[in-house]
Amino acid sequence: MIKILNVVGARPNFMKMAPLIEAMGRHPDQICHRLVHTGQHYDERMSRSFFEALGMPRPDVDLEVGSGSHAEQTGRVMMAFEKVCLAERPDWVVVVGDVNSTLACSITAKKLGIRVAHVEAGLRSGDMDMPEEINRLCTDVICDLLFTTDRVASENLAREGVADHKVFFVGNVMIDTLLKHRALAEGLELLEGIGVVPGGYGVVTLHRPSNVDRRDVLEGILAALAEIARQLPIVFPMHPRTRKMIDEFGLAGYLGQPEAGRGIITLEPQGYLEFMHLNMNARVVLTDSGGLQEETTVLGIPCITLRSNTERPITCLEGTNRVVGSGQEAILAAAAEVLEGRWPSGRVPERWDGRAAERIVEVLLSADQAN
Ligand code: UD1
Repeated sequence: MIKILNVVGARPNFMKMAPLIEAMGRHPDQICHRLVHTGQHYDERMSRSFFEALGMPRPDVDLEVGSGSHAEQTGRVMMAFEKVCLAERPDWVVVVGDVNSTLACSITAKKLGIRVAHVEAGLRSGDMDMPEEINRLCTDVICDLLFTTDRVASENLAREGVADHKVFFVGNVMIDTLLKHRALAEGLELLEGIGVVPGGYGVVTLHRPSNVDRRDVLEGILAALAEIARQLPIVFPMHPRTRKMIDEFGLAGYLGQPEAGRGIITLEPQGYLEFMHLNMNARVVLTDSGGLQEETTVLGIPCITLRSNTERPITCLEGTNRVVGSGQEAILAAAAEVLEGRWPSGRVPERWDGRAAERIVEVLLSADQAN
């Protein structure tokens, strides 16, 4: 019997972990798995609603670390997770993604001599100003197994000198979740309530510190969105960090007071299925999220990425994504291309087929037998 501690912390972790828990659950005689939530995200709409929508079990342990500076948050997770590792003595810790909890739990486990597997390894933006890039690099360098979503990520790890036998190109667990819930999300009826029609609106998400923590950058983006919204209503589910910064900088005027179905329509953070429903029916998505670049590629929806780089270049090489930066003119030019029907279509990357979690569990089982 292998004992595995699965770790989640922030919103994007939940949809990556759900299929892994399901796949582990298919081997009750071989795997005993427990779920640890660090509590990095804690609001109902940022956390618990996802457990319910994705059919995930409640966490066995909640570290309840909450928000704070990077050092505070990372340090609190490490101190609390160390106690859990000492009590549980797992054979493996499995971490996903690139949030502070990913890094904190990897280091903690590794220093206790516990093997660590990183799901979504090898992604690189090359941008060391991004906290997530630091988390990715530091996590990958200490992990025992590295599961990648695409060949570019595997190549990145090879270039950094990671031994081949540790790296497995398995596909994309977040896409496992998308494909599983696609039909359910399709069946929702939300658009009428918001006042938009299928194919007749854009979706925006924004939360990166590089976009929302500087007044001039945030103002440029909001001005571009307000301009686009004159032609195409913009639905904007707002991350708590972004709402806080818009209020602090006094930029709420750009959001206006839209009548139903016009202008920039702001919403609370959405549940998983509701958000997917919004995306799959959109004319275009504008975002600084990492995961959404991948989801739009699978859904075949044009994606305008409001960043100067991406750790997911496969979505540009093969999918519907383009990285345009955060400048007002560049955003408007890209949106014009979409509205004029000039956006290229893409294809779904290799192994984004709904079976990534299954492949990962096979590797974990055979890696354990090898020891
Ligand atoms: C974190 C991740 C980022 C990920 C994002 C998805 C890191 C470094 N960043 O960024 O990679 O893309 O999650 O959402 O790990 N807040 C709430 N309620 C919550 C959580 C946060 O109101 O449940 C507010 C707090 O004011 C907090 C701020 O949002 O200070 C930022 O939260 P934090 O977890 O530090 O980073 P995110 O910006 O959410």
